[in-house]
Formats: sequence, structure tokens, C-alpha cells
Amino acid sequence: MKKKLIVDVCLSPYLYPVYHKEDSIVVVIDILRATSAMCTAFHHGADKIIPVATIEEATEYKKQGFLVGAERNGIALEGFDFGNSPFSYTTEKIKGQTIVISTTNGTLAIEASRNAYKVVIGAFTNITALCNWLKLQNRNVLLLCSGWKNRINLEDTLFAGAIASLLLNDTELFKSGDGALAAGFLYSSARENPYKYLRNSSHTERLAALGLKKDIKYCFALDQTTVIPVLEGKYLVKLSH
Ligand code: MLT
Repeated sequence: MKKKLIVDVCLSPYLYPVYHKEDSIVVVIDILRATSAMCTAFHHGADKIIPVATIEEATEYKKQGFLVGAERNGIALEGFDFGNSPFSYTTEKIKGQTIVISTTNGTLAIEASRNAYKVVIGAFTNITALCNWLKLQNRNVLLLCSGWKNRINLEDTLFAGAIASLLLNDTELFKSGDGALAAGFLYSSARENPYKYLRNSSHTERLAALGLKKDIKYCFALDQTTVIPVLEGKYLVKLSH
């Protein structure tokens, strides 16, 4: 009997060292809005993205003439080209460009998981393409939620549950860790209308208070792209799949 692959969920980057296995594929998740924005930037023609964890690194790249998106606490930082709204990464601005991005949680999660076999970027906007690709890799999968400042958040957990459920239901290849089971139960209770289910989550409320409801709706929409960003050294690039 072929040994099953494991799909599991790490609910916070703080726990990542406990879950790290060097042969696993890590899917970094930051639905509101880092990974949704990254997938959108590639969909709109970005060539590469340099994710950086600190504002100091972002400032240095800005001085070198790069286009830089920087956000903290949902707010675009002064002195940079973009915040973290997917709508700011338009084709006119970024086609063919290498852009730098630094966000409150998403870029920290990418930094934390650099030692994985492979790091890819997941969001509702590329969920089907991502799932189909994961099924073909014959690798354990760790779904890494960026959360909010190392606390659990609902939207990343829900997305992790969606991916885990799809992998477990579509193939015999995977069995789930307890984190994936828990996230899957959450997803099964919210799948009819995730947007309605999440309306009181902390970051949804934070973004709504900033007048960013259209970002929220966009980030919960399924399959607007088939792009799967993958980490290669310091760059995120489009996976050729
Ligand atoms: C994050 O890093 O958690 C998000 O990107 C924050 C945001 O976009 O509001």
C-alpha cells in the first residue's frame, strides 16, 4: 500500500519551526491581501516580485529605483509606489517590471518558510490552478497561514481548509494532519458563502474601516488567475506549470 502524503495547516508563522519538514511544499497564504495582490501582480504582467520582510529593505530597493509596494496595518506607507491593494498593481504600471513588496504578515511568512523544499503562493484567486498543481507534485504539503502578527486569522485558515478539503476529496494521495482537519471543518461550515462568514473577522473589519471593502470582495473571488508564484532565491516568479 503506497504511503499517503500529508497535507497539514500551520495557523501562524510563529509555529512554522514546529511544522517545518525540508521535503515539503509550503503554500504561503495571506488572503487579505498580500498573496492575493502577488497573484494579481503576476496576472497583470509583473516579471518578478522581491518579497522583503522589513521597511528598511523596501526603502533600500526604492533608493535603487525599484517599484515598491509597502503596507503596514492595512495602510499604504508614504514614499512608496503601492500599498497592498490588488487594484494598484495595474498592467500599465507593472508589466515586465520587477517589483518589491513588504507587508505586515505575508512577507514575514515567506521569509519564515524559505528553508522549505519549495514555497508557492496561494489565494482564492488562484485556488484551482494551485490545487491541480499540488496534486501532481507527489510531495507533502504544508499550508502556512500568515495570520495577523502571529495570531490566527479566519480568512487564511478558511482558505487553508478549502485547499486541504480539495486535496483530500479529489485524490486518494493525501491524508490530513489535525491542523488540516480543523481548517477543513471550518471551511465546510463556511463554504456556501465565505464572504458572509468572514464579515466579522478582524482584518475584514480593519480593511472595511479603511474603506477597502472592494479589496475584500476581490480577495474572496475564486479563480481570477491560473498564475502560481514560486520562490526562487530572493525572487518570486511565475511557475511554469
Ligand atoms: C498582511 O500582510 O497581512 C496583509 O498584506 C495586510 C494587508 O494587506 O492589509
